[in-house]
Amino acid sequence: MAWYHTTSIYQIYPRSYYDSNGDGIGDLQGIIQKLDYIKELGFETIWFSPFYSSPQQDFGYDIADYKNIAPEYGTMQDAVQLIEAVHQRGMKILFDMVMNHTSAQHPWFVESKASKNNPKADWYIWKDKPNNWKSIVGPKAWHYCEERNQYYYAGFLPFQPDLNYRNPEVKQTMFDTCRFWLEKGVDGFRLDIFNCIIKDKDFKDNPFSIMQAIPSQEYPGGNFQLRKYSLNQDENFALAQELRSVIDEFSNPPRLLLGEVFGGHDTIKKYLGKQQDGLHLIFLFDILFYKFSASFFRKKILEYEHHYPFPNMPTIVFSNHDAIRSIHRIGNNLEKAKLLALLQLTIRAVPCIYSGEEIGMTNGNIPLKKGKDPLAKVYNWIPQFIVNLLPVGINRDNCRTPMQWNTNKNAGFSTADKTWLPVNTDISERNVAIQQKDEHSLLNVFKHLLQIRKINPALQSGSLEIIPTGNKQILAYTRTLGGEKLLVLLNFSNSKITNHISTPIKEVLFSVNSNPTFKGILEGLNGVVLKL
Ligand code: GLC
Repeated sequence: MAWYHTTSIYQIYPRSYYDSNGDGIGDLQGIIQKLDYIKELGFETIWFSPFYSSPQQDFGYDIADYKNIAPEYGTMQDAVQLIEAVHQRGMKILFDMVMNHTSAQHPWFVESKASKNNPKADWYIWKDKPNNWKSIVGPKAWHYCEERNQYYYAGFLPFQPDLNYRNPEVKQTMFDTCRFWLEKGVDGFRLDIFNCIIKDKDFKDNPFSIMQAIPSQEYPGGNFQLRKYSLNQDENFALAQELRSVIDEFSNPPRLLLGEVFGGHDTIKKYLGKQQDGLHLIFLFDILFYKFSASFFRKKILEYEHHYPFPNMPTIVFSNHDAIRSIHRIGNNLEKAKLLALLQLTIRAVPCIYSGEEIGMTNGNIPLKKGKDPLAKVYNWIPQFIVNLLPVGINRDNCRTPMQWNTNKNAGFSTADKTWLPVNTDISERNVAIQQKDEHSLLNVFKHLLQIRKINPALQSGSLEIIPTGNKQILAYTRTLGGEKLLVLLNFSNSKITNHISTPIKEVLFSVNSNPTFKGILEGLNGVVLKL
């Protein structure tokens, strides 16, 4: 099986990871200093949110030069050093590739908007009269530009104009941008809002839908509109295959495409390709909104097994730089977080863990009105008490607070007097240094699980079978590869449950409460991995 189907991914938001030069902002040299930590934890791949040149209106997701590094993060030399340093430690490195849009300050857009007949006039999407399309995060997608007396389209925020992929020059230029980084050794890309890239060629109006008031997986944005013509077009599925052939030019070692795609399973499968000739992996975001129960996860696992059988591999994520931190959903309970870690690292999937998740970092507490996040600025009229009730994070600052390394100033993230976002107040228990010393900590649960994943190939590529347990609170499944068979049991309740297993157990490979023996009794919120 290819490396990308068996790997484990750690996501770094560079601005918040480690500040090496005391300016309050994380940087590439800071990350390089922390690579041994990631390696020791046992992650095999690191994905970096963007650090290219950017005015940082969307903190890097608004790129002004794809082939340069924003000075607050470092230089091209630092980026090359980072790629090498990750490789020297035997890990893989993924960059974030934002193909859908650039910054409005990108020289391409500056040129494009200057007139209707310049060489880049057609590089973006311009119309004399807008259609009814809405942005996926706000009401307006079309923005008037005086110089051209026309409107440009921005599917996300107004300062992120969408590129026009029906212009072959644009497509080739972006493919070459990918090649530029692949030649420098990156092992692949996480593809930002990949399903938004190609639009209906006739710009037909999107249908109104009363059911679509609230955003959904298939139609993000809500706003009473089905994004029928602005998302997931057939040509967009074809683009996945074209990009795949670009990536496949670099076969030694093979590279990875990991898509951010909003859509139901049928849509996602089209991006993967019938012959597995599209994107290699796609985040399954529906699981972000999990219910902490055995029955929820049993159903979800069966659903994933049904839709993504071998040779596909689901990609499981509970937190990222856009979402409310997962631990918030379970009342910041570290014991529940350990059970989730056990699930995430033992089901048949590529696990993707967002930095800070390994120590149970909680959501920040930054009010909407103080948000630096551009989404917070768009929605700053919403009363805070409503924001607190929403299942999605509107002020994404709260999941981007600085990494908590220890109990020193700024949780050891930076020596600056002021960090770009305030450090959380819960650092006494939730920091790396303290959890490294505690063998029962969440951090060490991640570490042990990552280790047993590596030495038990059944956990990486074995088949999965759900096992009936006779108790609704217990989730049980086996992972089997060749002669190796493992049984995973998770008790989602708070009470002790006796679970009779008829098959003899050879070894207890892992137990959340570190009990090396297993006599059929699972303590509340405990879970085990058993060798059969
Ligand atoms: C993706 C990114 C998000 C960014 C947006 C626009 O959803 O994850 O952080 O704001 O795309 O690029």
